[in-house]
Amino acid sequence: MPTGPTIILALKILVTAVTILLVASLVALVFKKPRLHGRINTLFFVLTMCTVAGFEALLQFVDVKATFDEPTRDLLRTHLYFAVPSAILLPAMFFTGWTRRKSIHLVLAVVFTTLWIGTFVTGVFYLPHN
Ligand code: HEM
Repeated sequence: MPTGPTIILALKILVTAVTILLVASLVALVFKKPRLHGRINTLFFVLTMCTVAGFEALLQFVDVKATFDEPTRDLLRTHLYFAVPSAILLPAMFFTGWTRRKSIHLVLAVVFTTLWIGTFVTGVFYLPHN
């Protein structure tokens, strides 16, 4: 079974990797390449869903209380308060982008970006991996 620090380090690497993709997709928009934005975000969507599902599945197999001390469990919970709503919004982001419902896509983008910043900060900066 993986140790707590290993799980957290893997989580940090995955969250950072997908965030780089999200930023790249926004850079594509700056360069007026919405199709590229859509392609990068399709990958972002799939990888993020796999990360969330994989992490939730892993938590079913490890003894959470033995693997993470109480402060770490609190921090993980805070991280999930951002990560789970982000993951719930993602299919709607994908659908509204794909079907070119631009104004809804942009309104959702504001909410999504806020939640994602929370996911990134609580996942990458707060959680202890040593
Ligand atoms: C977070 C901030 C985001 C902003 C500001 C944003 C903005 C935009 C804009 C301006 C367009 C062009 C719409 C049009 O011209 O009709 C677009 C298209 C699109 N977006 Fe986003 N988006 C964001 C995030 C996402 C995410 C997270 C996803 C996927 C999960 C996504 C998927 C798409 C797709 C599939 C398209 C259609 C691309 C195409 O024309 O082939 N976007 N987005």
